[in-house]
Amino acid sequence: MTTLNKSKVVIAGGSSGIGAVLTKMLAEDGADITVIGRDANKLDKLKQELPSVRTAVLDARDRAALDAFFRTTGEIDHLVLTLSGGKGGGMFKELPLQELQEGFDSKFWPQLNVLQAALSCMNSEGSVTFVTAASAGATLPGTSGLAAINGALEIMIPILSAELKPLRVNAVSPGMIDTPWWDFLPATAKEQVFSDFSAGVHVGRVGRPEEVAGAIQHVMSNGYINGVTIRCHGGLG
Ligand SMILES: NC(=O)c1ccc[n+]([C@@H]2O[C@H](COP(=O)([O-])OP(=O)(O)OC[C@H]3O[C@@H](n4cnc5c(N)ncnc54)[C@H](OP(=O)(O)O)[C@@H]3O)[C@@H](O)[C@H]2O)c1
Repeated sequence: MTTLNKSKVVIAGGSSGIGAVLTKMLAEDGADITVIGRDANKLDKLKQELPSVRTAVLDARDRAALDAFFRTTGEIDHLVLTLSGGKGGGMFKELPLQELQEGFDSKFWPQLNVLQAALSCMNSEGSVTFVTAASAGATLPGTSGLAAINGALEIMIPILSAELKPLRVNAVSPGMIDTPWWDFLPATAKEQVFSDFSAGVHVGRVGRPEEVAGAIQHVMSNGYINGVTIRCHGGLG
């Protein structure tokens, strides 16, 4: 296993949810971390908790800003792409395709933007980890759009690992995880959604961000995991 101590890590989307928990775990491992996010308040809050973490207010939809940022970072050992949008869910019959397009614009393109902007800085012995979604490999009604966004990323993983070798490229693909991503729902509706979903998961509950962050940490540090998507969904039917 490669130690992450002192390794230089950039986490795009590390100011909330899975990315924020990963940031804490890697900070405990002694990694040198920069977190990218759009909301300066979220980044400030993270920095108060973890003063050693560097932050950058950046919108990953803005390629020119990303290019300028990666001109300043120097060599990066590990890149994690955990940023996300929120659009694209719903039964296909009623799904406005404009929303699906916004879903691609807020996850698929920004994750690829960050990777392409970062490539010239990547240590070839390091890793890139996308965070996708288990909907890409399931048959859950209401998720065809989300499956399309995340499946499009997942299908690229083995090809990117062949093109960019020896840099390792993987994805961790979470099921339903209790993070602020769900805060758009009122508390009781969120509870109901989690409870309904749990019934179809073999471990009988939604996931914790620590569980997904742990899978990402493992993928980053295990030098023989390459070109694959690791599902972290508790056993999704
Ligand atoms: N939670 C789940 O149930 C679940 C299930 C399957 C897959 N996932 C995937 O897991 C990943 C992490 O999700 P999460 O639940 O941890 O979400 P989250 O708590 O909403 O965190 C998303 C992070 O992405 C950042 N972000 C979003 N758009 C950005 C942009 N354009 N540029 C820069 N940063 C951006 C956010 O910061 P700002 O808002 O400040 O930009 C935040 O730090 C996502 O890819 C999500 O699709 C989550």
